Amino acid sequence: MRPLAQSPAKAGSDTDASTERAAGGNVHPPIASVSLAGDISMEGKYCIVTGSNCGIGLQVARGLMRRGAHVIMACRNMTACQQAASVLRGEGLSGSCACRVVDLENPSSIRAFVTQQAEELAINTNSVGNNDNGSGGGGGAAGLRGGQQPQQGRRYVDVLVNNAGVMGVPPAPDGSDRHLTTNHLGPYLLTRLLLPHMTHGSRIINVASRAHYTGSLSLVPDPNGRAETIRNDTHHWFWQYCRSKLCNVLFTAELQRRYGYGSPFALTVDKSSSVSGVSVGSSRTLEGIVGGIGAHAVSPGLVDTGIARYLLPGQLQWLLAPLRPFFRTPEQGAEVVLYAASSSELQGRNTLFLHDCREKQPSAAARDPRLAADLWRVSAALLRMPEEGGEPDKGSR
Ligand SMILES: NC(=O)c1ccc[n+]([C@@H]2O[C@H](COP(=O)([O-])OP(=O)(O)OC[C@H]3O[C@@H](n4cnc5c(N)ncnc54)[C@H](OP(=O)(O)O)[C@@H]3O)[C@@H](O)[C@H]2O)c1
Repeated sequence: MRPLAQSPAKAGSDTDASTERAAGGNVHPPIASVSLAGDISMEGKYCIVTGSNCGIGLQVARGLMRRGAHVIMACRNMTACQQAASVLRGEGLSGSCACRVVDLENPSSIRAFVTQQAEELAINTNSVGNNDNGSGGGGGAAGLRGGQQPQQGRRYVDVLVNNAGVMGVPPAPDGSDRHLTTNHLGPYLLTRLLLPHMTHGSRIINVASRAHYTGSLSLVPDPNGRAETIRNDTHHWFWQYCRSKLCNVLFTAELQRRYGYGSPFALTVDKSSSVSGVSVGSSRTLEGIVGGIGAHAVSPGLVDTGIARYLLPGQLQWLLAPLRPFFRTPEQGAEVVLYAASSSELQGRNTLFLHDCREKQPSAAARDPRLAADLWRVSAALLRMPEEGGEPDKGSR
């Protein structure tokens, strides 16, 4: 594939620690610590990063703040989120951050988060640039200083980073696969609900993995009455994780087809310049199509984070010690995310999968357009939402 940037990385395998070895790949030393996106300003950009209280997500939040962005740290653990935010605020970065609660395993939590975001975005730029430590008390006045009045107009989400993820978790009490729920269905719902709050040039970054090369996905008739469902044909965490990461790339592909650069589908703008919804084609456009959403799946490499904590609880973490020299730091793992979020090289390009800040061909399954469309449709059905257009939760608009 054509390199998109001068990458300092060596070629090599780079999946998550456990999947790497299970897939028979080779680990390799971390990439040199350079920041390919380091000079790109994100001044004033409104960015949402899920799972940003630790690991790669925390470094993504830090990198975006360093570049001047306002970062919504979307986390399920508010104590951890606020501790992380407080550290970031103490570093004198030029951007700002706010803590907001979202649990990607819980559709109600996701809807409440988006409703709150809609309110805060409507408040316009006053909400950006302040370090709001609130955990989301509603009311939409986050970030307003004393005496400030909300301005007319609104903002959009410039960058959504679907970073949060789990590996090695046990199934939910109903037997469902929590890798699928947390790593795919939650981000799918979050993204769908946030799309009306994006505009031309917004970017969606899905943190996938080279583990997707090992993943497979099949859809089967649903015994519960829906037309199809995702086949739960494995109960081993490894295959479930790989499948969820394949879903990340397939979801990205379908996002590109529907809302990417040059797509016949588009978001539409009404006369007051607020996004009125998602429609097919241009017939509903009043002031022109503002499609052109950048959607990219990225692989951070083999990164030393706590992602294996469900497999290796605290007292067994020492087992990873011999592998640590081969791990990237979370900061290095975040580089490809920051690159995808900010690089001008990606503007106007539907680059599907990035590793080491380079375009890389994803698996054949991940490039199957029919599978991508089917996954979109089945995911919508599982979440009881329409395949496109208006959302079930009017408050999310
Ligand atoms: N580490 C690697 O080698 C590697 C390689 C390839 C891809 N990745 C991907 O990189 C992403 C980040 O992983 P990481 O390595 O940084 O792991 P991590 O340190 O364990 O961070 C995961 C983050 O996701 C959050 N999260 C988990 N379940 C959630 C839920 N239901 N709702 C909201 N947030 C939730 C966690 O919150 P809590 O703190 O509350 O648990 C945490 O903030 C994942 O998508 C992972 O698949 C990692």
